[in-house]
Amino acid sequence: MTRLDKLLADAGTGSRSQVKEYIRRGRITVNGQVCKKPEQKILEERDLICLDGQPVEYARYRYYMLHKPGGVITATEDSREKTVLDLLKGVNTAHISPVGRLDKDTEGLLLLTNDGELAHRLLSPRRHVDKCYLARTEKPLTAAALHALETGVDIGDEKPTLPAKARLNEAGELLLTIQEGRYHQVKRMLQAVDNRVLYLKRLSFGSLILPEDLRAGEFRPLTDQEKERLRNDVTG
Ligand code: URA
Repeated sequence: MTRLDKLLADAGTGSRSQVKEYIRRGRITVNGQVCKKPEQKILEERDLICLDGQPVEYARYRYYMLHKPGGVITATEDSREKTVLDLLKGVNTAHISPVGRLDKDTEGLLLLTNDGELAHRLLSPRRHVDKCYLARTEKPLTAAALHALETGVDIGDEKPTLPAKARLNEAGELLLTIQEGRYHQVKRMLQAVDNRVLYLKRLSFGSLILPEDLRAGEFRPLTDQEKERLRNDVTG
C-alpha cells in the first residue's frame, strides 16, 4: 500500500506539493470517487487513479524499446537537438533514461527505463551483455579483418577489445556482436582494421531483439516476457 500523494509524485504527475494541490482541488479520483486525502492508502494492483479523468500510469518501473532513427541524440534533454526522450510521445517520461547510448547517426534498438538498478547491471562491463550491430562498411571485409575483429583489436584504449563475433550477411554487411560498450566502439573497431563504418544499426541488446515491424522513430513498452528475459540476462 502506498500513500496517494507519493504514488502520484512517483508516477511523475508532478512534485509532491503540486500533487497535494491536485488532490485539494478535487482533480484526483480513486476508483471513480473524488479523493481529497493525500494520505489515502492505495493498493497499486487494485485501485484506478485518475487525474482530470485520465488514468495515471503508475507502474513503478516502466520499460520501452525505441527504434532510434538517425539524427536524434541519446540524451534526456538538449537545448538544440532532438533527443530520444522527445520521441516517447504520450508517455510519462519522468526519470526515464536511455540505457547506454547510440551515436547520433546510429539507428536501432535502444532501451529506455526508470529502473536504474537494471540499467546499471545491463551496462556493467562485468556482465558481458551481447549487443549485435549491423554495419555497412566502406570496403568489403576480408577474412583476416573478420578474424581480427573476433579476436580483439587495438582501438587506442588501455586494452584491446574483448573477443567478439563477426560475420557477413548475404548482402556483405557486417554483423558484429560485442559484449562491451566503449565509446564509438564499432566505428573504432572498423578503423582498427583499416575500414570505415558508413551505416550502423543495433539489432539486439541482450535478449531484446529489434522487431521488424517497429519502424524507425517508433517505440513500444516491453512485454512482461521481455522484461523477465532481460532480468535473466543479468542475474547470477
Ligand atoms: N558503436 C559505435 O561506434 N556507435 C554506436 O552508436 C554504437 C556502437
